[in-house]
This record gives sequence, C-alpha cells and structure tokens, in this order.
Amino acid sequence: MSHQPARLPHLLLICPRSDVLGKFVGLPVALTVVHRPGGDRQLEESLALAVVDADFTDPHALLAVAREVHARRPVDAVLALTELSLHPASVVAQALGARGNSPATLTLTQDKAAMRGRLRDRGLGEVAHQVCATLDEARAVLRRCPSGVILKPVDGNGGTGVHLARTEGELAEAWAWASGARTGFVWPQAADASSVLAEEFLTGQEFSVESLSAAGRHQVLAVTRKHTSGAPHFVETGHDLPAMLTPAQNQVVLDATLNALDAVGYAWGPCHTEVMLAEGGERATVVEINARQGGDQIWELVHHVTGIDMLQAAVLALAHGVLPGPGVALAGGAAIRYLTPRSGRVTSVTGVAEARAIEGVIRIGELREVGDEVMPLGDSWNRAGHVVAAGPDPKAAAAAADAAADRITVHTEPIEGKTP
Ligand SMILES: Nc1ncnc2c1ncn2[C@@H]1O[C@H](COP(=O)(O)OP(=O)(O)OP(=O)(O)O)[C@@H](O)[C@H]1O
Ligand SMILES: [Mg+2]
Repeated sequence: MSHQPARLPHLLLICPRSDVLGKFVGLPVALTVVHRPGGDRQLEESLALAVVDADFTDPHALLAVAREVHARRPVDAVLALTELSLHPASVVAQALGARGNSPATLTLTQDKAAMRGRLRDRGLGEVAHQVCATLDEARAVLRRCPSGVILKPVDGNGGTGVHLARTEGELAEAWAWASGARTGFVWPQAADASSVLAEEFLTGQEFSVESLSAAGRHQVLAVTRKHTSGAPHFVETGHDLPAMLTPAQNQVVLDATLNALDAVGYAWGPCHTEVMLAEGGERATVVEINARQGGDQIWELVHHVTGIDMLQAAVLALAHGVLPGPGVALAGGAAIRYLTPRSGRVTSVTGVAEARAIEGVIRIGELREVGDEVMPLGDSWNRAGHVVAAGPDPKAAAAAADAAADRITVHTEPIEGKTP
C-alpha cells in the first residue's frame, strides 16, 4: 500500500455480523456484501458497492451470485466470517481466481479426521483417531487410548456433540451425545446427521493461537489461555490474553500451530487454532484449526492487548496482501468470562450494575432475560451471558472478569417435565 492503486481492490464479504459492520468503514477497499439473513441490510448497503443475496452455505448458489458480481467488477478477494460459509467461500475464491484459502485447505480444517491424517502424514505427530459408524468401533478406539476418548462430530463446531469417555462404562452415553448431534444448527437445511470421530483424549492445558495469513505467511497476534467447563463436554467458559507462558512453552505452542497451518496449506486471512499443551509443557498438539477469527469475542480481546483490529487487519491482508506490525497494546491483559447458571426458566437477573462498576469491566453482553430458557450446559449455545474486562496485566483482567461474573446471578426455576 505504498501507493494507492487507481482502483481499490474488490472484496466479497460474506455474511458479516451487523455489530461489526462499522469496522469496515474507512478501509482502502471496495466491498460487496453477501447479506446476512436477519442482519442490518440498510447498514450493509451504506458501506458496500452492492449487497447481494445468496445461500452462502451452498457453494453452487454462492458461486452463481459471485460470478454476477465478478462480471460487474472483478473480485480480488473473498472473506467469509461464519463457519458454514467458509467452504463455499473457498470454492468461490478458487473459481474466480481471487484471494482466499483453497477448498482443499478448508476441507483439511473442517474435517477433523482429514486434519489428523494430514498432520500425521507431514510428520507432525500421531493422535489415535477413527471415524466410527458404530459404538463397537468407538470401543475399539478406546481400548487403544488409556487416557480415554473424545467423541465428537467429525465436522462440528460450537462444541456441539463433544463428550469424553474415559471408560467403557461411559461410552454409551458419550456415543448417544455425539451421534445425536446436529452440526448444521444455524441453518437447519445443512443439518445432516454427521459422523462421529473418536479421538485420543489429549490432556494438559488448552490454548488458542490467533493469527493472520497473507500469501502463506503467518503472523501470530496472540496466544489465548482457554477455560472450559471440563469433562464431559469441555464447553468454553472463558479466555485470558495474553496467555502467561514461559518463552519455551510459548514456542512449543507456536511451532505446533504454524507447522499445522503450513501442513494444511493455510494461505489467507484470520485463523484460530486450538492447541493442547501437554503436562510438562514440552509437547503441544493441535485440537482444531478454525479458518476464521476466534469466536467468544476473542477478536475484541486481541484488540485490547495488541491494538490491532483483527477484522480490519484481515481485510487488509486479503485485499492488499499486507500483515500488520506489532501494534501498541491498549491494555496489558484482557479476559472474557461466560455465565453458566443452572438450567431452567430465568426468573430474574441480579447484580448487573454492581458487576459493571468493577474496575476493568468493559462490557456485559448476551445476557439472558427473564422468561428465557437456559438449557443444560452442553455446548457454547447454552451459555447465559458474558463479561469482557481488561487490566494492566492478564491476571488483573481475569480477576476483574471473574469478580464481575461472580456478581451476576441468573436465577432460574425448573421447567416442569424438562429440567432434571
Ligand atoms: N482429542 C481431544 N482431547 C482433549 N480435549 C479435546 C479433544 N477434542 C476436543 N476436546 C475438547 O473439546 C473442545 C471442543 O472440541 P472441538 O474444538 O473439536 O469442537 P468444536 O465443536 O469445533 O468447538 P468450538 O467450535 O467451540 O471450538 C476442545 O476445545 C477441547 O477442550
Ligand atoms: Mg474448537
């Protein structure tokens, strides 16, 4: 971007959340937006050359619309912002010769068995795993895995259908949970029953790595420490940035991540890679590569601790091929905590004003309201609100987020015939 091109690059932006649309204002790029159903079309229209409609979960439908857009003004890059549009977006990018990850790369990230196979083939470590059609097949995998097995949909996200089985006695329940999961939860037309992956249970502490790529070069923005609800579902309950690792541990986590990104051919845009650092800290194993920015407001936490806006930086990476510099941190640490009340019908929510008054608290969001139903904490969709906080260091940020989350109580009462 040392000089401004006469004609700015044209980016096809697929399904942006309305609350982040403002981030696309003022960037040196021409946008066409594929409308987000239920999103703010007027606002989309105010920032784009055009807003078009397409079923972006269907590669053929999306490509047909993208070809019309391309005919009006050539598309230089394609950026998808939702899980179900990632693969169709990659098909469009390849067909139009635009910047974006290839469909082969997307498949390697979204098919968790394919990712395991690729990492093994590239000498990046073996994790026992098998796609199973029956409980008996899962039992055979468990017998090879002394620490237990995780059963999960082979193409899941949002933690849907994840269940640990440490023993054969726990296997039937885990199988029922994982095999009953529907992974197309956002757009029900995509809801095919999916196959169950049985995978060696990796133990240790989990982290995620937030990165941006341009033409196959990767820039790490942050390493995040993950908190989960633990066994059996490991639902994410919080994140701390930056993770407080020793330089050696940090390197182990980064090596595992960057080697995996190269192994799947990751070339363009934001990425959120989940990594298990084994006890002792000498070995790290990739759990999952997400070909998008992290959910759970992680992009917002990254902004606090680096000064870099991941969405804006992603647009610049795709449209201009540039990666950001180190940035200037706005805070030494940032954290998010999720509220996970007892399941049932919400009768009242208390302590919000007190929580908001705690030093370091930035925002309380996604709070359930009186009358809402809270389901048992089986996946990320059943959390009841969140608190974002920042502080001079990660400990202070985490302490503020913890204190605020503790202060808020989402009171529930059992729902007859439903709540156990
Ligand atoms: N093999 C494994 N060993 C240990 N823990 C695992 C394993 N697989 C999954 N988990 C735990 O379950 C969580 C969810 O798994 P995974 O990321 O594969 O599912 P997901 O549906 O893609 O979740 P999300 O979209 O929330 O990241 C992981 O973050 C991790 O805590
Ligand atoms: Mg995951």
